Amino acid sequence: MAKKEKVVVTGGAGFIGSHIVDALVERGFDVHVIDNLVGGKKERVHKAATLHKVDIRNSDSINPIIDGAKYVFHMAALPRVIYSIKHPIETNEVNIGGTVNVLRASQEGGVERVVYSASSSAYGDQKTFPLREDMPVNPKSPYGLQKYVGEQYCKVWSEVTGLPTVSLRYFNVYGPRLDPDGDYALVIGKFLKQKKAGKPFTITGDGEQTRDFIHVRDVVRANILASESTNVGNGEVINIGAGSDVSINKVAELIGGPVEYIEPRLEPRHTRADNRLARKLLGWEPLVSLEEGISELKHIFKLS
Ligand SMILES: NC(=O)c1ccc[n+]([C@@H]2O[C@H](COP(=O)([O-])OP(=O)(O)OC[C@H]3O[C@@H](n4cnc5c(N)ncnc54)[C@H](O)[C@@H]3O)[C@@H](O)[C@H]2O)c1
Repeated sequence: MAKKEKVVVTGGAGFIGSHIVDALVERGFDVHVIDNLVGGKKERVHKAATLHKVDIRNSDSINPIIDGAKYVFHMAALPRVIYSIKHPIETNEVNIGGTVNVLRASQEGGVERVVYSASSSAYGDQKTFPLREDMPVNPKSPYGLQKYVGEQYCKVWSEVTGLPTVSLRYFNVYGPRLDPDGDYALVIGKFLKQKKAGKPFTITGDGEQTRDFIHVRDVVRANILASESTNVGNGEVINIGAGSDVSINKVAELIGGPVEYIEPRLEPRHTRADNRLARKLLGWEPLVSLEEGISELKHIFKLS
């Protein structure tokens, strides 16, 4: 039997990364996960994958794992806005310094392509919608800035060293394994947990702020296409969003339950992706509707 090709997923014990690991195992790759488990969970990592409990800040640890891999999916990050405001140095070291380590290891290890998890938080507040990749960015938090710097590093690395990279700017990702705990839980997870506990949904501000919710299975498909497509590899930045915006009030209505309005917080009023570039370059389109995705989650949380 031919030897399986090695691929690496940093942050592969996390919410999105663990789904990518599953898809790669299914495709017959020898999957290696780099994750220090600060946010990830060992149990999420597919049994057929190899988990290396190491930190992306440590080049000596990650270099041999990445060496000789075909693809690297770089998902590891400290991905919370409020945490990044409270911990700018630590998040900078992981989200930017760690990314540079991953890029260098990939270049030296002869990796064929790095797929980077960028974030729509790079857009920050904008006046016109939908959000297009060629708009000037306007990040509103250390996290948004750090994720933007990460994608710029990918681009520069491709230009300077020829390492093929591509960045996918995810919008609000949700789906099975999303984290409903903690202060920084994303809205769908938070509402599911509140409903489970018989509590009202706490909505910040008037609830008319909107988000572009994209299902994790759609994000996984975008990653696989980005690793294979012959149209990308030169540091392109591509939105991965549903292309529709839904208010937080509407999300509450879809999950179903009483609401309580609390203090507004610092956050962009709206996000909505222009996803035409993903359609054109990757042949990607979102397939899971918010109604379907929420109904599946209610089932998982035993709420229906
Ligand atoms: N979830 C979203 O809506 C969203 C949106 C845009 C971009 N992203 C990006 O997608 C990626 C994955 O996000 P997620 O929601 O799955 O987050 P997550 O927290 O579930 O996963 C991140 C993983 O990285 C690991 N990690 C953190 N610091 C590390 C370090 N120093 N060394 C090794 N591993 C480390 C964590 O343990 C965790 O398993 C992140 O890069 C994030 O910025 C996510």
